[in-house]
Amino acid sequence: MSNIGSYDERVNNFNWDIAEKELDFKPGNMINIGWYCSDRICRMGKSGKTALIWEGSAGNEKRYTYDDLRLNSNTIGHFLRSLGIMPGERVCLFMDKIPELYIGFLGILKMGAIAQPLFSAFGDESLFVRLDNAQTTAIITQKKHAPKVRKIMDKMPYLKHMIIVDADPGKPLPEREVAFDMERAEKIDRFELHPTYAETASVLHYTSGTTGQPKGVKHVHYSLISQYLTAKWVLDLQESDIYWCTADPGWVTGTSYGIMGAFSNGVTQCVLDAGFSADNWYRFIEKHKVSMWYSAPTAIRSLMKAGDEVIKKYDLSTLRHLASVGEPLNSEAVIWSEKVFGKPFLDTYWQTETGSIMITNFPGMKIKPGSMGKPFPGITATVIDAETFEPFAEPGKIGLIAIRPGWPSMMRTYWNNETTYQNKFRNGWYLPGDRSSIDKEGYFWFVGRDDDVINTGGHLVSPFEVESALLEHPAVAESAVVAKPDFVNMEVVKAFVTLKPGFTGSKDLDLDIMNFVRKKLSPLAMPQEIEFIDNLPKTRSGKIMRRILHAKEWGEEIGDTSTLEND
Ligand code: WT7
Repeated sequence: MSNIGSYDERVNNFNWDIAEKELDFKPGNMINIGWYCSDRICRMGKSGKTALIWEGSAGNEKRYTYDDLRLNSNTIGHFLRSLGIMPGERVCLFMDKIPELYIGFLGILKMGAIAQPLFSAFGDESLFVRLDNAQTTAIITQKKHAPKVRKIMDKMPYLKHMIIVDADPGKPLPEREVAFDMERAEKIDRFELHPTYAETASVLHYTSGTTGQPKGVKHVHYSLISQYLTAKWVLDLQESDIYWCTADPGWVTGTSYGIMGAFSNGVTQCVLDAGFSADNWYRFIEKHKVSMWYSAPTAIRSLMKAGDEVIKKYDLSTLRHLASVGEPLNSEAVIWSEKVFGKPFLDTYWQTETGSIMITNFPGMKIKPGSMGKPFPGITATVIDAETFEPFAEPGKIGLIAIRPGWPSMMRTYWNNETTYQNKFRNGWYLPGDRSSIDKEGYFWFVGRDDDVINTGGHLVSPFEVESALLEHPAVAESAVVAKPDFVNMEVVKAFVTLKPGFTGSKDLDLDIMNFVRKKLSPLAMPQEIEFIDNLPKTRSGKIMRRILHAKEWGEEIGDTSTLEND
């Protein structure tokens, strides 16, 4: 029997009280995610249960029980407090998927600061704009990533501490840098939690939009109510599960379900801190007897590409339940997974701003391959007309996804950007910025985004950020960045570039520009293709018309070009 039982019954009798009661939370009382994910599980008699099995790229392994999680997060919280870091300040986690990332996250929350996770592959420019926006006080990182921080340290007077978790013992560190060794530090058994409440800020995740710099999505401790219950009902976490969430906590899936949803449910989870290969992933599932697997369409399509033969080499019979998030999960991938693993990947839809799963397929529900499923109980979601902002009277029409605000893990604002936050609402609906239709049976069918943001392999990339980086390259005069179709990643970044006088397009220049963006921003944001052109299509007012370039890439009708400059 799945945790959710009957979907229809849950929808009809739903109230978020269900989660509050299960978590013994009473409105007005303290709620601290760090405590719920470690101390509380210990109090329930599971202090010796394995919480985290970590495997590094060399196959080396580390294990942590719930009591280890409790002690080590206390220890990190205590250390941050002893540095003088105050509740409410932003503490950035800038690490590979190492245990210190997962446990440090809990430690930051326990001492009342705000956790700001950033993807460790970010280059110095991506890092700087996000730390600068949040006026981050401390950053926890590894030796190998420290040089990227040092490069921008002078521009960040507010950044008081760089904490290095694997510093060479005895080697003196420059000013503002300090070593912290989680394994060796004296363990703090009793830690006085900072009194955090439902509306106390917890996590700040940065996400990209079409225009402007990335936005800091502010979440609060009360979000746990949503993360706990969605993890229980959608991911169907059971006492005996070995759960594998493949996402990196630099992104929201890796925190909402790789930390908060998982540990608050007291499950055993494993983490693979190594690059992707089909062999290595299947081996990992076999070795750790993974039973619940939460992954992403790009990974699934990469596995499809690797073929079915490699699957036969491994025993994957422990897999019980599979789910996916981040980008459209095409019906072929669902059908394929049913064929090779004996169960379909269930598509789940949500975003950084929603903090938890919004529209989804459930265990036990009829699956329509290619559909995102139905709203989570307690979530009122529909599709509205983009002009009137009213829901359609009949099924099948394509419009904007619209969700009634008010669920526990809804973002509370964009950091220092209340105007952009307010702009996400129309007619009493929160608009995630995606287009969909709903069929007669209430299933949602994703159509596309309603903006120019590129979703490459489940990661959002802002064309604005890439264009800004390109403009800093000495050869580039102007640029326009759009998505280009790709079998595995669905979309990849393509840049159209006009060159400054004296430069001519060549393979070398191509590579040089690509590397320039990769180092500044990240490998995800790096254009996979650069096309040198003489003129970019522009409106009469001089705005670059990405739409035209996008349509060309996707072989679509160009549409209305009446505002084009040279028509
Ligand atoms: C955007 C959010 C939620 C965790 C990872 C991404 C797209 C997300 C699906 C899906 C089609 C999806 C949307 C959404 N997206 N899930 N199941 N089917 N598209 O979080 O970086 O905030 O991206 O990803 O466009 O708005 P994010």
